[in-house]
Amino acid sequence: METHASNMTRRRYRTSRHMRGLCAEVRLHTQGFIQPLFVDEALTSPRPAAGLPGVMIDTPDSIMETVSSDLVAGVEKFLIFPIPSKSMDGGFDFRFASSVISGLRTAFGDEIWLAADVCLCSYTSHGHCGILNEDGSRLMNAETVRVLADYASVLAHAGVDCIAPSDMTDGRVAAIRRRLDAEGYDHVSIMSYAAKFASQFYGPFRDACHSAPVGAGLRDRRTYQISPLHGGDAVDTALRDLSEGADILMVKPAALYTDIIASIRRETLAPIAAYHVSGEYAALEGLVREGLADRATAHLEVWTALQRSGAGIIISYAARPAKAWIQNHSP
Ligand code: PBG
Repeated sequence: METHASNMTRRRYRTSRHMRGLCAEVRLHTQGFIQPLFVDEALTSPRPAAGLPGVMIDTPDSIMETVSSDLVAGVEKFLIFPIPSKSMDGGFDFRFASSVISGLRTAFGDEIWLAADVCLCSYTSHGHCGILNEDGSRLMNAETVRVLADYASVLAHAGVDCIAPSDMTDGRVAAIRRRLDAEGYDHVSIMSYAAKFASQFYGPFRDACHSAPVGAGLRDRRTYQISPLHGGDAVDTALRDLSEGADILMVKPAALYTDIIASIRRETLAPIAAYHVSGEYAALEGLVREGLADRATAHLEVWTALQRSGAGIIISYAARPAKAWIQNHSP
């Protein structure tokens, strides 16, 4: 009876920062953070990304300074989104992306870990993630996969550490893995956007990358990205990608899909990356702007939830200040 009564006193766990820290099940560490980077071939000076406070879209020159100052701040892992100046729906030209990556590799060597998004949405005139059929009503799988494998090969040759395919066609992880291995890039890893949902929370990103679907054909990405109504599809897609050779499985959006993170974690011990996407970041920053939340504490709370669910890797637009926040924040 007595024991039962004392266990009712849950507040002993909460008495001080020492007790809260001691009993913490989640300890964030910057080793697991990845900072997204945008670089736009058409820009002559960096511009702020709409809706994303603290995020800049770099020029091919300014990206060097950004990475340089990030390294000083202790940020060393990046996911880069190269945005070409010209749109193209065939005869894809990956020279811009390639030059950015080889430039970064030459300048920073193995001081940085560099993943590159592999998708066609910032290339195509219609903004879809792959090649469409003649009347624009369908995304063609095999044709798209072939081009993505070419793109991955170019990026590997330029010196990228990790290929991150985000298009959501079937079979692209296997095709990319096969291609990389055949060309001697067996050391280059694949972080698959595996559990990628058709979401309204990619808005600020699409604005930054000029990649929102436009035109008379397919209106949205629901024929290739996963339905939020079908969580099991995300889990099975992640396991499928793992069997095709993915090294890291990504879930995105992140904070709305912690159930999916937890479900994948139950099925495999492979590393899971949670991408707190642009719209999720923007929503949180909106609260901060209104004076309704503390910025550092709010981001730390989100990251804690992601890690608690089973994600050891966090992709966040606030990875940059993460180190200072983690260090200075008392539990
Ligand atoms: C490209 C891609 C998208 C994001 C990452 N890669 C947008 C989309 O699928 O429309 C979203 C990232 C973000 O919102 O932060 N396919």
